[in-house]
Amino acid sequence: MSKAPQKVMVVFGTRPEAIKVAPLILALKNDPRFQLCTVSTGQHREMLWPILDWFDIKPDHTLDVMAPKQPLAFLSGKLLAGLHTLMEAEQPDVVMVQGDTTTAFMAALTAYYGYDYYVRNESGKRHHIQIAHIEAGLRTYDNYAPFPEEVNRRLIGHIANWHFAPTATAAEALFKEGITQNVFITGNPVIDALHLTVERIGDGATPNLPAELTEDVLSKPYILITGHRRESYGEGFEHICKAIAKLSKRYPQQIFIYPVHLNQHVQEPVRAMLGNLPNVILTQPLDYPAFVQVMRRAHIILTDSGGLQEEGPALGKPVLVMREVTERPEGIMAGTCRLIGTSEKGIFDNVSDLLDNPATYTKMAHAVNPYGDGLATQRILNLLAGEGSRTNTFTPAYNKA
Ligand code: UD1
Ligand code: UDP
Repeated sequence: MSKAPQKVMVVFGTRPEAIKVAPLILALKNDPRFQLCTVSTGQHREMLWPILDWFDIKPDHTLDVMAPKQPLAFLSGKLLAGLHTLMEAEQPDVVMVQGDTTTAFMAALTAYYGYDYYVRNESGKRHHIQIAHIEAGLRTYDNYAPFPEEVNRRLIGHIANWHFAPTATAAEALFKEGITQNVFITGNPVIDALHLTVERIGDGATPNLPAELTEDVLSKPYILITGHRRESYGEGFEHICKAIAKLSKRYPQQIFIYPVHLNQHVQEPVRAMLGNLPNVILTQPLDYPAFVQVMRRAHIILTDSGGLQEEGPALGKPVLVMREVTERPEGIMAGTCRLIGTSEKGIFDNVSDLLDNPATYTKMAHAVNPYGDGLATQRILNLLAGEGSRTNTFTPAYNKA
């Protein structure tokens, strides 16, 4: 007799979560071993909707939790209450969360709290919701960098039942913390999403580029910038913007493209300090295919983003990481990423080094795939269905291509 399909509730709320769970949602939809239920928490709105459109995902449920500059405790409270109601109604077997956002942590916590609440009527038994964690085991061992992601992902790790680690380093980190059951090295589905997107662009899907990113601009060697980390609010963003302003004056022919995150803590300093520089182009956040296209054509990527540290190496782009620590050491070991800190001098010196020294640039600009091979989705679903095995793992490639 065939087994009843497992009901998997996939919960996401922010831009990177949507990108990284998209391949899983698409695969779950067509897999008879599972019944899919999708929840968008509404932690992000304008930055999320175009991603869902691109991957043709229509969430079954949408919460409405976003508010400007709201404290994390307010966001968390709304998420817990909203997700509780949905989990009670849907009674999923598995709740799937990705990464380390407040959405991911609150969804895992709600599923965990459900242990004494969601008693199945027909059997009267406790309904123990399984928590499946995608991108498990990333660590900096600094609770305040990145904040609050380091603590979010650690706490998820300690209540999750399935740990899908992207790399061996991430799996080892879990083992060191005593998390040894159901830990699998699968690669990161971000690489699956990237492959899917590059293929669709190759097949003629046209990225929706904003008017300021003309062919003339994109045909020159530009630096692509993103930044949004909470620990950089205030002084950190001032240093970042001062460094970019100084670079734009030192290299007047060099173009800088910065799609600015909608967070007001980012918009305000960036628009005030970089808004009037002739070679710095500030845009709205780009939709995913447009952003992938802009990454593929970039000369250098300057960022504090987690996702870009994974996508940059896959595309062979040097990534300068504006952080003091990173949970993604693999790109650095592969030589494609460099941790440059958040001081004005550190950022200025490192970007200048890459612009002035073609040999250094060439050494960094090679494609490697330490974060995945495009098969993470299938591994994860096979493992969840009890049809995977520990031999079916991703072997990260640190070697230069
Ligand atoms: C969140 C995640 C972070 C992740 C990042 C990806 C938390 C605590 N932070 O940070 O881990 O790396 O997303 O981008 O989970 N806003 C809009 N429209 C949008 C999105 C955001 O207006 O579509 C504005 C809102 O005013 C919102 C603010 O940005 O309150 C901040 O959003 P929030 O999700 O709290 O934090 P992020 O910095 O985006
Ligand atoms: N991204 C995008 N449009 C943009 C900037 C980023 O689609 O204008 C994508 C990027 O390719 C990556 C993800 O968003 O997959 C990264 O999101 P973000 O930097 O907001 O979050 P983090 O990865 O730091 O959690």
